[in-house]
Amino acid sequence: MELSQRISTILGTGSDGWDVFYRARQMIKDGTPVTELTIGEHDIRTAAPILRDMHASALGGHTGYAMVPGTTALRETIAARVQERTGVPTTAANVMVTPGGQSALFAAHTCLCDPGDVALYLDPFYATYPGTIRGASAIPRAIQTRAEDAFQPRAADIAAQAKGAKTLLINSPNNPTGTVYSRNTLDGIAKVCLDHDLWLISDEVYDTQIWEGTHISPRALPGMAERTLVVGSMSKSHAMTGSRCGWIVAPEHVIEATINLSTHTTYGVPGFIQDAAVFAMDQGPAFEEEIAAPFRRRRALAKQVLAEQNTVGLVPAQGAMYLMLDVRATGLSGEGFANALLDAHHIAVMPGESFGAAAAGHVRVAMTIEDTQFSDALRTLCAFAQSLET
Ligand SMILES: Cc1ncc(COP(=O)(O)O)c(C=O)c1O
Repeated sequence: MELSQRISTILGTGSDGWDVFYRARQMIKDGTPVTELTIGEHDIRTAAPILRDMHASALGGHTGYAMVPGTTALRETIAARVQERTGVPTTAANVMVTPGGQSALFAAHTCLCDPGDVALYLDPFYATYPGTIRGASAIPRAIQTRAEDAFQPRAADIAAQAKGAKTLLINSPNNPTGTVYSRNTLDGIAKVCLDHDLWLISDEVYDTQIWEGTHISPRALPGMAERTLVVGSMSKSHAMTGSRCGWIVAPEHVIEATINLSTHTTYGVPGFIQDAAVFAMDQGPAFEEEIAAPFRRRRALAKQVLAEQNTVGLVPAQGAMYLMLDVRATGLSGEGFANALLDAHHIAVMPGESFGAAAAGHVRVAMTIEDTQFSDALRTLCAFAQSLET
């Protein structure tokens, strides 16, 4: 018996560059200690007061079906936070609560694309993007950004691929590059969307992790609120990855469509999780800065370590919990370098190629281990690169 084409092809074809990740996992399982710099997850757990609030909510009876679009309290909290930070009028009717940002990305593409529609996204990309688009029965079309532009997309490159496309997915602050899109970049993207009548899906799950520059939500740009869906999440901002709580902010008629989808798929997010999300957001920006602080600190440490040598280049790392390192001077591909580093020093990093062709010759380092261990690992990585330099 055959499975559907949709699920059989969701992963696409060809090597995805994740072998090094699975090899590292196997080494750990076999008892070899590995310094893991692969995964985008905080090295702290969800804060105890948030968990206590979740517990109290569950004990208080919020264990039944919650409202499909999200509780009124959480939708209003998200709307107020978005309006305050972007200046765009936003109400609860503009908000749909989803089980994490990932499910919001899928819902957005499913609600906007018909089978066979072209959905644009930018390379390098977060690993699930092409599969999410394929899962929604649309056709993913990657647009390359360039290392020489520090991976800021060029509007002309997007415009050249935009003909006949339905949606454009962007992500700033960016995983995997750490790039924060400038006002100029976003103005250019907005113009392409207006000129080519594209929906814009803006993945802003790292919006509280800004080390340099300012986060601008493209929904706030002229003419964009009616064609932009913003994807947000509690995962990165509040260290609540396992709670699976995210959202879409969009025009009301789009939210109504996402509610119909959710009624027939997820049926909402547990009420006690949503109550805890309200509690967490009520802690305000100081709490968000506390969650982001280890990455801000480690990014500063990384800049110091990288400044001590000339072999490994650092993409500016303006935001998010990752560094993109240019290892082309070693003469190896990102995949070759990551494999060699794992073998020689038991340090696991992600090959740039696993995030698309545009990141070839780079590796992504997650800043998710303790500070001293982190800078020691980076020093070892740089010395290893120097030893290979051609
Ligand atoms: C760019 C980006 N978008 C979305 C997600 C999904 O996050 P979640 O589903 O935990 O909200 C991630 C997770 O790593 C991510 O890096």
